[in-house]
Amino acid sequence: MLHEPQEYKPIISAEAPEELKEKIGKLGVIETSVHTPPYTMHKFWARRPWRVFRELITRFTKPGDIILDPFAGGGVTLVEGLIARRRVIAVDLNPLAVKIMKHEVKPLNMGLYKGALKRLAEVIEPVASEIYAVRCPHCGGKAMAIWTEYDSTSNKPIRIYYECPICGSKGIKKPEPGDLPEPQSMPQFRRVQIPIGDKTSDLLKRGIRFFDQLYTKRNLYMVLRLKEEIERLGDPFDEDVKSFLLFTLSSTLKWASKMSHLRGSIIEGWAIHAYWIYPKYLEINVWKQFLNRAEAVLKGKSYTNRYIGYYAKEARDFSDLLTEATYMVIQADARKLPLPSESVDAVITDPPYGDNVNYAELSDYFLWLFGESAPKNEEIVINRTRGFSIHHYQQGLEEVFRECYRVLKPGGALISTFNSKDASVVGAFVYSVRKAGFKFAGVSPQPYLRAYETTFHAMQVDSMPLITYSSSTRVRDTVIVQGVLLLS
Ligand SMILES: C[S@@+](CC[C@H](N)C(=O)[O-])C[C@H]1O[C@@H](n2cnc3c(N)ncnc32)[C@H](O)[C@@H]1O
Ligand SMILES: [Zn+2]
Repeated sequence: MLHEPQEYKPIISAEAPEELKEKIGKLGVIETSVHTPPYTMHKFWARRPWRVFRELITRFTKPGDIILDPFAGGGVTLVEGLIARRRVIAVDLNPLAVKIMKHEVKPLNMGLYKGALKRLAEVIEPVASEIYAVRCPHCGGKAMAIWTEYDSTSNKPIRIYYECPICGSKGIKKPEPGDLPEPQSMPQFRRVQIPIGDKTSDLLKRGIRFFDQLYTKRNLYMVLRLKEEIERLGDPFDEDVKSFLLFTLSSTLKWASKMSHLRGSIIEGWAIHAYWIYPKYLEINVWKQFLNRAEAVLKGKSYTNRYIGYYAKEARDFSDLLTEATYMVIQADARKLPLPSESVDAVITDPPYGDNVNYAELSDYFLWLFGESAPKNEEIVINRTRGFSIHHYQQGLEEVFRECYRVLKPGGALISTFNSKDASVVGAFVYSVRKAGFKFAGVSPQPYLRAYETTFHAMQVDSMPLITYSSSTRVRDTVIVQGVLLLS
């Protein structure tokens, strides 16, 4: 049962300072809306609604203030903070989060990026039309597979969605001999093992031990060729543009493996918080999807170029932030913040929620191709395989909040969203902030966001969550707190 709107009244501590009481009282129910384009450039798990963060930032800080987010994840505090002309320090342990955040705020030369796409197309387009070639059932000419559905037991194709550039027909066809020729060679690459974990056990049981085994031979070939060709680009394409193209390729991976499937007529890339291959999986056309993702990157960057632009100046160290620079993205364990004491005006954050998302295990899916992997031992989550209990989780949060306490200016507030139906996880969170020295100021409960429960992205359209889906198996009206406010 969902609560009535009047039930979302704040609970405010009588001992909180007057100014803070007033601000908490005014928060009310924060309206949410779909992700803006910067957040649809690349998947990250559990991105919080931007409106909630924008509201917290504008209400609890003023322009020029330094905001710290020690669990910065998909970058909502960073992006919204810079749009609101604050200075932001975004910390995350996970290199994928760091990569995403850097690309979210770094300005992009759109003309150069488009030029590089054209150059890539000259090489890759002919490769794609060979490797995804199928016979057009209408004119008999060479058509292109947009996706192919496979049976996961036999690994045989069942049906193909094709488009024919000769006669213009498109539709579903049955596979026939000569369709989808196998690549004859494979670019060199380093195999990377899938980590043993809570979320990888299904694959490991099936004998899938390396990330490359998650791909059909054809799609692995395409992904590796694209990477090679991007890295090979020379003048006038600089390192920044190449980095944005590799970021686009990373974003494409969500759809490129056998973890994609059809839900009705929607092509769904990897959308669940565990590794899983459906009984009927899809082999999408990697090149087509890369172009779709490039569109999403262009939209995301035109948004941030417009609303942040050259206000985004990355600091090399904290002292830079006190002069010219406006943000820092730091890959670190937030238990040890490389920041001076009493240096930030506010902490605005969204911590991990127990075992809700095992970020490090899941991120390796995107990182392996670039020779990276996420640190696992320092991650603050509950993970049975790694022996991380609720105590590990609580202890970790406490240490991070202690650091927050140390770096906050006296009187500065820590503002955190939190969302869990597991009472022990909520308890661990509340206990940690208290033990770290913070005093309770208030809670502003927010209704659960249906739209964010599961979002499915349509390949043909773009990555905006056009279709949102509420799973009946996960009842979330037991949300206890969202928007806990505490102060030093
Ligand atoms: C709930 S997510 C943050 C999501 C973010 N608010 C957003 O909207 O995208 C929590 C983040 O905490 C990070 N994390 C976990 N352990 C950490 C640690 N010891 N130090 C820093 N970050 C950590 C995870 O990598 C993850 O990105
Ligand atoms: Zn045709």
